[in-house]
Amino acid sequence: MNLQAPRGTTDLLPEQALAFNVLEQTALDVFSRYGYALIEVPTFEQLDVFVRGIGQSTDVIGKEMFFVYSMHAAEKLAAGETLKADERLALRPEATAGVARAVVEHNLVPPGAAPAKFWYAGSMFRHERPQKGRLREFHQIGAECIGAAEPTADAEVIIMLMRFFEAVGIPRQAMRLLVNSMGDEQCRPAYREKVREFIVAHSEQLCADCVRRAGTNPLRAFDCKNLSCQQVLVDAPKLRDELCDDCRQHYQQVKDYLTAAGLSFEEAPRLVRGLDYYTRTVFEVQVVNGLGSQNAIGGGGRYDRLIEEFGGKPTPGLGFAVGMERIQLALEANGCANRMQLSPQVFIVVVGAEQVSAAFDLALRLRDANIRCELDHQARSLKSQFKLANKLDAQLCVIIGPEELAQDEVKLRMMETGDEQTVASATLTETIRKILP
Ligand code: HAM
Repeated sequence: MNLQAPRGTTDLLPEQALAFNVLEQTALDVFSRYGYALIEVPTFEQLDVFVRGIGQSTDVIGKEMFFVYSMHAAEKLAAGETLKADERLALRPEATAGVARAVVEHNLVPPGAAPAKFWYAGSMFRHERPQKGRLREFHQIGAECIGAAEPTADAEVIIMLMRFFEAVGIPRQAMRLLVNSMGDEQCRPAYREKVREFIVAHSEQLCADCVRRAGTNPLRAFDCKNLSCQQVLVDAPKLRDELCDDCRQHYQQVKDYLTAAGLSFEEAPRLVRGLDYYTRTVFEVQVVNGLGSQNAIGGGGRYDRLIEEFGGKPTPGLGFAVGMERIQLALEANGCANRMQLSPQVFIVVVGAEQVSAAFDLALRLRDANIRCELDHQARSLKSQFKLANKLDAQLCVIIGPEELAQDEVKLRMMETGDEQTVASATLTETIRKILP
């Protein structure tokens, strides 16, 4: 049998796993400066968490969910029984809904409390058609700020996102920051109706999906990838022009704070994002080259009704998530992917099997001193050991032979130049530290 990883998933082999780990370390470093604390929510939740959070009419819920059935639930289904709410489970397509559920369940933001700030990293699952930058299991780093309604909070979150991208090494000029306002329950219904009327009036020029969306969720039409639809929708009414006074003022202030912080952005009046919980500010970061149509490396926005939707007190919130695979692709496309150091700094070579136990002790000592170190457990020929050291790209070889051992010394060879020196065992760690960068 030919066993393979499922379509749309990837094995994170050591180099990529390490690169992801570095992204998470960078997130920890940047986000903690803004007061964010790590949170972990389950990889699967009750289906209702996602349906109520993200919205039935979105592609994520309507087309892309992975369901989770226990054996017991599968048997009930097969027998034609209906499942209880806590038996209907799904893999998370994103983590905002799960975090909001946890905030309500644990009362993490009681009324009047300061905003709570959380960040997370982990796998998300969407049954999309796999392509470059689009997977069925992918990895996100995200942040959620819950309990702040003020425009400074929007600006702070967007600034933190851009600082994160810069800290991981994506050049600022390689990114476009798009912002828009989705309005709120005051102004959006009337706007939605205008877009519906526009779609109906232009149904001959639009694809069947867009026309169908007129009946369910007209704003989704703006997400249509069809170029001819996009050209028609350029003339659709813009929410920017229909915002109520409160939303207009909020949006203006967010833009003013971003400008004052020196952050350049583009207004994108048709940016609606694919999840239904958004209100007011939405934003997306795209890379200019190298990622084709999957060029969004991160996005987010405000969701002032979500906590209430889950049974909590009215509590505003906002956040973002970034795609870790897409960040890696963006770094590679811009020639700034860090080749992480996995290779040993030091390789210990023994002349004969009698020196193996000394080599073993030395390896432990060097590792305890924070030096990446490897040895050939099989103590093969000298030639094979040097070959392995070269293959692993070790910078230094420590050579232990019978004479050296008798004198409490070792030989140290610089692999690039072949230069050798004899070093007293007692001072070896210090000498290596001086040589290594
Ligand atoms: P999203 O835009 O659906 O937002 O996803 C955020 C990022 O995840 C995208 O910009 C992209 O980089 C990455 N991504 C999404 N789908 C895939 C995929 N199939 N394969 C690879 N990467 C992907 C959210 O998920 C919201 N929860 C963000 C948010 C947090 N809004 C408020 N708080």
